[in-house]
Amino acid sequence: MLEFLKEGYLPETTFPVRKVDPTLCTKCGMCWETCPTAGYAWKRREIPSPVGYGGLAQACINCGNCISVCPAGAIQMTGAYQVKAGRYKSMLKGEMRYPTPINQNETREYTSYEKDLTPVEQTIFTRRSHRLFKDKIVPEELIARILEAGRFAPSAGNCQPYKSIVITNRKIIEELERRSMPSLRLSKNLYLEGSGRKKPWKNILFTLLSWFMVNKLDPRPMAALEKSDQIKGKFYFNAPVVILILKDKRGISNPDLDAGIYAQNIVLSAHSLGLGTCYISMPIIPLNLPLLRGFRQRIGIVHPYEAVTSIAVGYPKIQIDRAIKRDSPPVEWLRD
Ligand SMILES: Cc1cc2nc3c(=O)[nH]c(=O)nc-3n(C[C@H](O)[C@H](O)[C@H](O)COP(=O)(O)O)c2cc1C
Ligand code: SF4
Ligand code: SF4
Repeated sequence: MLEFLKEGYLPETTFPVRKVDPTLCTKCGMCWETCPTAGYAWKRREIPSPVGYGGLAQACINCGNCISVCPAGAIQMTGAYQVKAGRYKSMLKGEMRYPTPINQNETREYTSYEKDLTPVEQTIFTRRSHRLFKDKIVPEELIARILEAGRFAPSAGNCQPYKSIVITNRKIIEELERRSMPSLRLSKNLYLEGSGRKKPWKNILFTLLSWFMVNKLDPRPMAALEKSDQIKGKFYFNAPVVILILKDKRGISNPDLDAGIYAQNIVLSAHSLGLGTCYISMPIIPLNLPLLRGFRQRIGIVHPYEAVTSIAVGYPKIQIDRAIKRDSPPVEWLRD
């Protein structure tokens, strides 16, 4: 039993170490604004400081956005998020590397061979999740154009088991945020500790729960919830367009997977057209709760459809689209 508990919940977690060079930083705050996890504490006209909270040593998921966004090149980041042992032991190598689709064994900078890549490869490698949008309307023709890219995604049995709801009505986006926040806030408060040290009973509870809810209890989404709280629940970041992606529950085989492929076609096509996007799954669990049935029906989520994710779309306020480093999931080759 003791071993089971020791093995349990997130023992020995390492986080990336971020450093802001005070001699370069212009105190613009854009790293703070674009970070999905409230990884920096920042006040106007001050240098941001990397932080953790609620029992997390650092609030950082290695997304690289702060480095992409920083106009002064003031941020250095080393290391990676890893759980060293137990049920959540990381399968990632902790090796953050730039894309190397060709010349895999060389250490050349991505930009030195970008010109040798196809336009599709360039679109894939330079896409970033945007969380700063211009207050500018996206023409409906452009939204229809990116949805058309989704329509031509592969799907099991070619049954296209999805539906999109395009929301450009600001009041509905705000209502979605407002209605989702109470349950999100509740789960965050249960999970994180204001004091920074997790109470022993919580460790035991989450250890037990993590057997049954293995992909629901990672701390990283909790760090993103903290960010939402800090920006008054505006987890769509004032995006002018939100596309809700629904699956048709009767779809062949695995409609969640089909909906994901559909969504990614939309996201890549948007990036190729100069639009910024960010997947936002935060409201999906609350949206599917019985409590929000009336709201769901009002916005068109009715049987046989169910929300899978959503995509914020808009014109980027600043340019962050560039290749960043990413960890490497395992690849095994079974050769002749
Ligand atoms: C299914 C899915 C759900 C996501 N949900 C959120 C979200 O709720 N809020 C958010 O800020 N980012 C969300 N993201 C964006 C990820 O944080 C982002 O893709 C990741 O950090 C890598 O950064 P990049 O997209 O810039 O490469 C989501 C991404 C995916 C694929
Ligand atoms: S790498 Fe991403 S998550 Fe980490 S501090 Fe920078 S913006 Fe935030
Ligand atoms: S984005 Fe760069 S320059 Fe701006 S506050 Fe952050 S570290 Fe400083």
